[in-house]
Amino acid sequence: MKKKSKCREKKETIALERDMYKELLDNIPDAIYFKDRKNRIMNANKFYVRGFGLPLEKIIGKTDFDFFPREQAEQMFADDNYVLRTARPIVGKIEKTLLHNGEWNQVITTKMPLYDDKKGAVVGTMGITRDMTAYANSEAQRFKMLMNTILVLGRAVELRDPYTFKHIRNVAIICEQIAKTIGWDEDRVLGLRLAAEMHDLGKISIPLDILNKPGKLNDPEFQLIKGHVENCCNLIKGIDFPFPFIDIISQHHERLDGSGYPKGLKGDEISTEARILAVSDVLESMISHRPYRAALGTNKALDELKEGCGIKYDKEIVSVAIDLIGHNIEEMLHELN
Ligand SMILES: [Fe+2]
Repeated sequence: MKKKSKCREKKETIALERDMYKELLDNIPDAIYFKDRKNRIMNANKFYVRGFGLPLEKIIGKTDFDFFPREQAEQMFADDNYVLRTARPIVGKIEKTLLHNGEWNQVITTKMPLYDDKKGAVVGTMGITRDMTAYANSEAQRFKMLMNTILVLGRAVELRDPYTFKHIRNVAIICEQIAKTIGWDEDRVLGLRLAAEMHDLGKISIPLDILNKPGKLNDPEFQLIKGHVENCCNLIKGIDFPFPFIDIISQHHERLDGSGYPKGLKGDEISTEARILAVSDVLESMISHRPYRAALGTNKALDELKEGCGIKYDKEIVSVAIDLIGHNIEEMLHELN
């Protein structure tokens, strides 16, 4: 009799614990879901189910391909398979997810392996996805404010020297396109873009009649022009940035063969960011009108890049830049400006 009541007590405790876990899972404002080895949904909490606008019964047994656009589902499958294959978790992956109402949400997802109790083998995955759309939106607003502040700074430069302003903007766009084509991540592309937005600000202290002088410059004038690199470095020196702006800007007139300035750096001494900035700078200068001469055009720019390819300019970067020229770079600059 005593044994029977102990057994019942144990069953009641297990049931109580199960209810508590379910209650906890269903009240957490994160999507929590369990999948088997074929990435089919085995169970999910209320928050996850609400995202689809379907009852749980219609979700169980389905896969991400039943709910998400193909490309997104493929990525989710790849992540699940990685966890199944390696038994390693994926922690805090930032991604976008499509809801049943057609809206895209910014989310952060963690996926971890589920183990078989007895054999310890990986039998599935557990995912936790947190909606961070509100945070992402506020970040986007802050980012917009920062970029617009830079635009205002550029407009101040434009009041004095419209050509330098336009040049800086165009170079930044070309740099961004090259870095994206190479496959850099968002943060590195942004860092380069911001460096490009600042790279010629040092021209602000050069007299306009020298900056815009038609014809050949004499040596003292050329030395003054060259000084814009140091001027710009002085502007940003001592300001704490989480990106090596000063290195990139100080190297944007350096050339791989050592023929550049101010230091005559060679090869690997020049960062990849500075190499992209150099190619973009030359390209933009040649395809745009300057106050002292008409635009030289894309053919001349092509000749210059091909001639300097692997000598003055980085081969891979030149090849991406040549592709950009082939895709009507002038139209692209017009559209993105
Ligand atoms: Fe420059």
